[in-house]
Amino acid sequence: MIKINENYLKLQASYLFSEIGKRSAAFQQAHPDREIIKLGIGDVTRPLPPACIEAFHRAVDEMANISSFRGYGPEHGYAFLRQKIAREDFQARGADISEDEIFVSDGAKCDTGNIQEIFATDIKIAIPDPVYPVYLDTNVMAGRTGNFEKGRYDGIVYLEGTRDNGFIPDLPPEKVDLIYLCFPNNPTGATISKSQLQTWVDYARENKALILYDAAYDAFIQDDALPRSIYEVAGAREVALEFRSFSKKAGFTGTRCAFTVVPKSCEAYSSSGEKYSLHALWHRRHTTKFNGVSYPVQRAAEAVYSEEGKTQARQLIDYYLKNAALIRKEVSALGFDCIGGENSPYIWVDGKMDSWEFFDMLLQKAGVVCTPGAGFGRCGEGYIRISAFNNYENVQQAMERIKKALA
Ligand code: MLT
Repeated sequence: MIKINENYLKLQASYLFSEIGKRSAAFQQAHPDREIIKLGIGDVTRPLPPACIEAFHRAVDEMANISSFRGYGPEHGYAFLRQKIAREDFQARGADISEDEIFVSDGAKCDTGNIQEIFATDIKIAIPDPVYPVYLDTNVMAGRTGNFEKGRYDGIVYLEGTRDNGFIPDLPPEKVDLIYLCFPNNPTGATISKSQLQTWVDYARENKALILYDAAYDAFIQDDALPRSIYEVAGAREVALEFRSFSKKAGFTGTRCAFTVVPKSCEAYSSSGEKYSLHALWHRRHTTKFNGVSYPVQRAAEAVYSEEGKTQARQLIDYYLKNAALIRKEVSALGFDCIGGENSPYIWVDGKMDSWEFFDMLLQKAGVVCTPGAGFGRCGEGYIRISAFNNYENVQQAMERIKKALA
């Protein structure tokens, strides 16, 4: 008899963004004449930078010619891309990362979800609350948690982000083995300083723990004193893996390209206490289960590092940050407390009411989709997340509608 993985039964009914999609679609069906403005899921709306499009076209043409055609590429990415990533994203900022520590992939969501496979089932995991749901759900699927009771899974150490700690969680109150961190944060938009990040790296070193650092939104950092990478912090090479993406940096959500950094100095232990290289384990996993990102996509990603590519990607980020500034201004003027939106595309708003009710109210009254904070965890209750990924005119209109709806 075929049996299911019963850990899936512990999951909440549907993935947050599917539920939002369902509610928005139902509203649209009931009100076909109303035009919905989506400021929910963080999906980009601007076209790819022209430099990427040109590189993409050139690479497609190469695939049409017998002398330049390519079949399978290296599973961990072409050297032309990995070299640029290592140089521009890390070495240029004083972070000691080499090209062979980079694994190019089809998304940071997939990588942050898949990485847990290389760790034991009985480790203690610390996960922020509020949090990007993928970290939690993939550990539930893998059987690292108990049941869901009163808004939380048994067995997880929750790192609470609140107004009081500026949504930067304190170190765990008990010893943990694996820690998920994300900065600039999804969903709160909070950022972490180098010295704050240093305390996490020091904790990991003292406790033989590992940090999974999601920096998918690094391109939004405006304040140059803030770290873009955890490897800008001393000692991180021994205790941290980092996830990056071209999705938000250069509009690749539909094109798919990301990378994970696994330093060769990162080690973890067998149950008998022997040390093993995480690089070797992830390499084994990646080469077994993944056949690489397509050649044209990698050429398009490489173009992000050209002079024109850098300027054009910067313009995209500036465009969304202008939206974010407008959202912050208007929402604050309505009397709501909010954070984020300055080094992040997300604005985290204290709605002072049940967050799904706030979501439904904005949808019904203003035709605007946001993301209810409760979907990111118990500490998200009472908040909503507004995404700056849309056209400026739509954001302006959404703000006008929200003003009217709340008047
Ligand atoms: C989000 O809205 O949180 C993100 O777009 C989700 C993702 O990147 O997978």
